[in-house]
Formats: sequence, C-alpha cells, structure tokens
Amino acid sequence: AIIGAMDEEVALIARSLTDAVTHAEAGLNVTEGTFAAASGETLHVVATVAGMGTVNAASTTQHLIDVYAPESVIFSGIAGNLNKDLHINDVVLGGTLRYLDTDMRLIAQSEPKTDEFHSDPHLLSVAGEALDEMGITHITGVIATGNYFVEGDENTAKVKAETGADAVEMEGAAVAHVAARNGVPALVIRALSDNADTEYETFKEFDISEYADTAAKLVINILGRL
Ligand code: ADE
Repeated sequence: AIIGAMDEEVALIARSLTDAVTHAEAGLNVTEGTFAAASGETLHVVATVAGMGTVNAASTTQHLIDVYAPESVIFSGIAGNLNKDLHINDVVLGGTLRYLDTDMRLIAQSEPKTDEFHSDPHLLSVAGEALDEMGITHITGVIATGNYFVEGDENTAKVKAETGADAVEMEGAAVAHVAARNGVPALVIRALSDNADTEYETFKEFDISEYADTAAKLVINILGRL
C-alpha cells in the first residue's frame, strides 16, 4: 500500500499499474492495480493520497490495512530540512520517527509500548538501493512529525533540540505508529522541499510538482525491487 503526498504522485504511480481501478472509500480515492516488476514478479498495489496531518495519516493507514491487508505500507512525501549537511531535493528515509506535539509518556503506556517508531530494515535497504541507482543524495535519519508547519529560525531550533530530527513533516510517525500496531512493515520516505528556517508567506510559494515526479519514480523503482 502506497500513501503519497500529492495527487500527481499517485496519478503517476497509478499509470504504472495494469488494470487500475479507483474506489471512493473512507474519504479517499484508492487506486488498485497490478505492478509488473522487471523480474517478472507481479505485485498487487493500492495507492492513495491521505491529506495532511496525523489524523488523516493514521485513518488512511488503518483503512488500507483493514481493507487490503498489505504486506507493507510505504509513505512518500516532502519535509522541511533540519540537517545542515543536507539540501533541498535530498531524501531522508525515516529510520526513526518521533512525534513533535504529543506527550509520549502517556501514549507509550498502551501498545506498542514505544515513544518512537521505525521503518522496516529490509524496506530501508531496498529504498537505499533505489536512491543510489537514481543518484539521489540520501540518509537514513530521524524524522519529527507534528500537526503544524515548522518555519522560522526559532521554531526550527526548538524542534531540532527537542527531537534531534533531520527532517520535519506532518504524517510519518502516525503512519509508522499505526503500521506497528498492526504488525505491518512500514517505510517513510521524505524529499526535502524547504529549509524550515525560512518564513513563508503562503503555501503557494512552494512548487512541489518537480518532487512529485521524482517521488513517483522512486516509489516505482522500489516496487520493482520488492
Ligand atoms: N512539510 C514540508 N515542509 C515542512 C515543514 N517545514 N514543516 C512541516 N511539514 C513540512
């Protein structure tokens, strides 16, 4: 199951599927089809756009797991850069995912008893191979997830100090959290779209279409290796 950040990304992935059909369910448009890997293997794939924030991410992940019982869940999207050694368009794989605005001392008392979540080691290594082949600079690092857009020097410094994260976004920990509750391997992929220390006047200042294309190609490359 693939959860993308943008309609264009999921549309491109849908075009790589044969017999693709789209179902409207649980407030989502879920495209389902067959992916033919170069090895001759075929994969049954579903792809959708969750919308922003942890509630959208969590409800989408649970819905896809309940209805399609995927072997793994891949989330692909954009993030703000917090690591001075990385640049826009580099990729952070979510080795570790932490919440930014949730007090995990309480949450971690219920299953799974953890205050952070992890992408699956095999999926991380497959994604690393795909990124190497595509010549995209990447690290496996820490991703912080919160329900707000992080911008400005002060906020960026606070997030870095609290989480030690390389990148900040609004869904990854929720996807990895729900996947962990269900025992489903997850992978969170984030392309860096902005340096979070800049203040943006409007979201329109972002042009993320270039990233949507790269992200879709990356996900398709990963599917070919599964
Ligand atoms: N997604 C992309 N950039 C982001 C930022 N700076 N904060 C939160 N989510 C983001």
